[in-house]
Amino acid sequence: MLTTREIQDEIMRLKKENDVCILVHAYQSHDIWEVADYVGDSYGLSVQASKAENQTIIMCGVRFMAETCKMLSPQKKVLLANPIAGCPMADQYSGTDVEALRKEYPGCSVVAYINTTAETKAHCDVCVTSSAAVRIVKNMPEKDILFIPDCQLGAWVADQCPEKDIALVRGGCPTHRRMIGIEAEVMKKEHPDALLLVHPECRPEVTALADYAGSTTGIMKFAKESDAKEFIIGTENSIVQHLQFECPDKKFYALSKQCVCENMKSTTLMDVYHSVKGDGGEEIIMSDELIEQARRPIDRMIELGG
Ligand code: 13P
Ligand code: SF4
Repeated sequence: MLTTREIQDEIMRLKKENDVCILVHAYQSHDIWEVADYVGDSYGLSVQASKAENQTIIMCGVRFMAETCKMLSPQKKVLLANPIAGCPMADQYSGTDVEALRKEYPGCSVVAYINTTAETKAHCDVCVTSSAAVRIVKNMPEKDILFIPDCQLGAWVADQCPEKDIALVRGGCPTHRRMIGIEAEVMKKEHPDALLLVHPECRPEVTALADYAGSTTGIMKFAKESDAKEFIIGTENSIVQHLQFECPDKKFYALSKQCVCENMKSTTLMDVYHSVKGDGGEEIIMSDELIEQARRPIDRMIELGG
């Protein structure tokens, strides 16, 4: 039997030998973080995907992230480390749904959270990520916006962009929606000196109680740079563990035990090992036409996001 360390060493050796770049979303487990070339939020991963010089990219995250990676580096081989890692929010809207909504909301520009499938993106005007959503929406010349799929993130953006008319329909992250306001109130009472840091995918009642709301990378940066010593974390619980490693002198508490994304957690170090070895993962295959259409809102995201 090999140890975690031995598997990690073998991954490091194989990725050099096979010219592989390993991109890791912040919600992955710490043993996967340790073999990454880059760890970050959805926006950071998109930027890295377009910059990577290696022949092969392995995405440790969920399917829409691997698709985005393929769109931004179509000449590269892109592997999703575990093919079952999807995002339930990304499956909430199809391209047909978007076309039906365009008829209901004529004149609106369709802004899609990056947590959508490539097929859905192909029918949208602009993509956003949690870290850049407010900036991108503010930079759009259009006033009337239909925001899909996440109504929680959409409401948070709308609050900060009063100059825009933002319509929300339905949808959201089932993982972040598990956290409710009463839990945040109880945790704040139990830890009166702790700051509450949440992801804007949380319910508005939770975000309203927060000292800071932002992307996974934003939450980590805030906690690392803050003078405070205790934090309640309202996002996928892996972030609690990563922060404990990064700031051993500070204390981090999960807002709720329920905030675990089974999809993000389905990728294991052994999946990464098999992908880098060449006998695992799923290669993302997309037609040139789909890449061209789905990339348009991504390119606009990068242009407006700066
Ligand atoms: P960010 O990576 O933008 O923080 O979003 C979190 C998330 O839920 C990704 O699926
Ligand atoms: Fe999708 Fe939510 Fe999991 Fe992110 S945390 S991958 S949005 S289900």
